[in-house]
Amino acid sequence: MQQGKFIVFEGIDGAGKTTQLKKLEQHLQQQNISFYLTKEPTDGPIGSLIRNVLNKRLQLDERTMAALFLADRLDHIQNPVNGMLQAQKAGKLVISDRYYLSSYAYHSAYVPMDWVIAANSECSKLMRPDIIFFLDISPEVSLERIRKTRAFFDLYETKDRLTQVRSNYYKAIGAVKSTENIVILDATQPEEKLFQQISKEVNKILEIRIELEK
Ligand code: TYD
Repeated sequence: MQQGKFIVFEGIDGAGKTTQLKKLEQHLQQQNISFYLTKEPTDGPIGSLIRNVLNKRLQLDERTMAALFLADRLDHIQNPVNGMLQAQKAGKLVISDRYYLSSYAYHSAYVPMDWVIAANSECSKLMRPDIIFFLDISPEVSLERIRKTRAFFDLYETKDRLTQVRSNYYKAIGAVKSTENIVILDATQPEEKLFQQISKEVNKILEIRIELEK
């Protein structure tokens, strides 16, 4: 059995990952491609703890958060019941909504980025993405989109914070570009146009030869 590929979606909050993931899901179903779609923070015990902090029910120090996201990720990879690694080994295409690039961007405001990268090195050894899509939008557009979809904001969803995270994403991309395959996409363009670019890259990864512009 050939090991499945691994695709990751990244971006600041409100970048439109959910919409693009739905489109990708449909696209893969139409082509009968077996996939495992998952996300971070996970729905597991560590992920649940993290969500309680994100929605401000619980307060934890930012270093603790960086460590919790790492623990959640290690479980996300290796969990024997629903881990990504076992899905990949079973030949499935694994798609994750966020992975270690999120940690580099979100936590480096509080702990050195080098530390976050080094702490996550076990994850990259276990599962390095074949491709990481970075959906890029401005914090203004991001907040406008979040405002339209829900009545509340999470811990990290302020303009200052999103500006900082976006800039840290670019720093992180610069720091790891020699080892990671990162594709930066303009996420302010129409959904369909953006998805065309994503599906083209995914098809390349999967080596599906279809004439796109037909
Ligand atoms: P998000 O994808 O926005 O989840 P949802 O839309 O379901 O609320 O992720 C939740 C938040 O977690 C987001 O603000 C980014 C943050 N985060 C980190 O701070 N570090 C990490 O390592 C990851 C994966 C996410």
